[in-house]
Amino acid sequence: MFNLTEEQLAVQQAARDFAQNELKPGVIERDSKGIYPHEQVKKMAELGFLGMMVPPEYGGGGMDTLSYVLAMEEISKIDNSCSVIMSVNNSLVCWGILKYGTEEQKRKYLPRLASGEWIGSFCLSEPEAGSDATSQRTTAVDMGDHYLLSGTKNWITNGATSKLHLVMAQTDADKGHHGINCLIVEADWPGVSIGAKEDKLGIRSSDTTSIMYSDVKVPKENRIGEDGFGFRFAMETLSGGRIGIASQALGIAAGAYELSVAYSKERSAFGKPISQHQAIAFKIADMATEVEAARLLVYRAAMLKDLGQDYTQAAAMAKLYASGVAMRHTVEAVQIHGGYGFVKEYHVERLMRDAKITQIYEGTSEVQRIVISRNVLKGDLYVPMPTGQELAV
Ligand code: CAA
Repeated sequence: MFNLTEEQLAVQQAARDFAQNELKPGVIERDSKGIYPHEQVKKMAELGFLGMMVPPEYGGGGMDTLSYVLAMEEISKIDNSCSVIMSVNNSLVCWGILKYGTEEQKRKYLPRLASGEWIGSFCLSEPEAGSDATSQRTTAVDMGDHYLLSGTKNWITNGATSKLHLVMAQTDADKGHHGINCLIVEADWPGVSIGAKEDKLGIRSSDTTSIMYSDVKVPKENRIGEDGFGFRFAMETLSGGRIGIASQALGIAAGAYELSVAYSKERSAFGKPISQHQAIAFKIADMATEVEAARLLVYRAAMLKDLGQDYTQAAAMAKLYASGVAMRHTVEAVQIHGGYGFVKEYHVERLMRDAKITQIYEGTSEVQRIVISRNVLKGDLYVPMPTGQELAV
């Protein structure tokens, strides 16, 4: 098994306590009414969960990716609106700026994002650019010392609450995806407007909106990387983001599994606990096996990232597999709970609804298969297992 350090175990325990004691009591109401979790996000900030991998010099926790994954897993067992807010802020926005931002950008923005004073959003998807992310219609016209940004972004997590947007936009269409830039945009700048909150199947409390930009003046110093680096920035950042969503999917699956085991021991039918009926016991066996397999893939991807090794393929595998496990086994969890599974009070129907989005955002399962197959077919037959002290058998 993975040999977790004392720090990692402490983070896992803190996240578990927070999820069970502070998220669970109100999660059904927030979900059914679509109430944004303001208080809970504030508490996540106080616990250091919003800038976990940001070094202390920029106001973050200076933790590794595995710690982040452990916290995501625990929070996702209960509240996936909170865990997606956390995931986007940590692995797309903070990490993107940390890895590719200038020193000035890091000093200006990371302390606000890591402390939760500001929440960030990652604005890549458009009405006609979802999986086909190179087809950006949002434009950033080069005006010398600034860009003029215009266009519409869709399905943006943290759309209404984020104070900072990382926006991908086309500057030079002749260069295709090499003409895309990523700009740091502040939400209160003139020309930025926010659409209505989407009414969603799952993760109903998080604010998913469209964002419109109309001739927004963005200073050149707010561009990330060299001119034309935006698409590569988006792809590299999304590889890390996919570890976050994979850990969300793992948490959903593990949450449904834990609830199912407990329920199957309590509920009796035909004179014995339903766990003693093979029909249920075999479902539990499949859940146990596949949750564990998902956990190994997710932790491995996180460890490869922490070890500075290539994790693109590992992250895609972890997300593809864990999101499938989340979907399959939340459906089974509802089945095990029978009529109780179909009502909100027992939590599993919410996890089933939440599971679906993990197969869609930050790259659909089909996109993950593109990433994996291209890597495999070019010769990367195996993703290495992390070695050394981190892995004890
Ligand atoms: N790292 C670095 N560079 C990468 C890369 C990676 N992981 N993946 C691709 N690239 C580079 C390629 O090397 C290539 O560069 P060159 O042209 O210089 O050689 C360039 O990017 C284009 O790559 P492809 O030719 O592979 O591009 P494609 O058009 O075939 O698309 C794709 C590839 C994998 C389908 C990609 O478009 C993709 O990932 N799409 C999904 C987008 C996505 O995940 N959206 C999620 C939205 S954000 C979100 O959901 C956040 C939220 O709110 C929760």
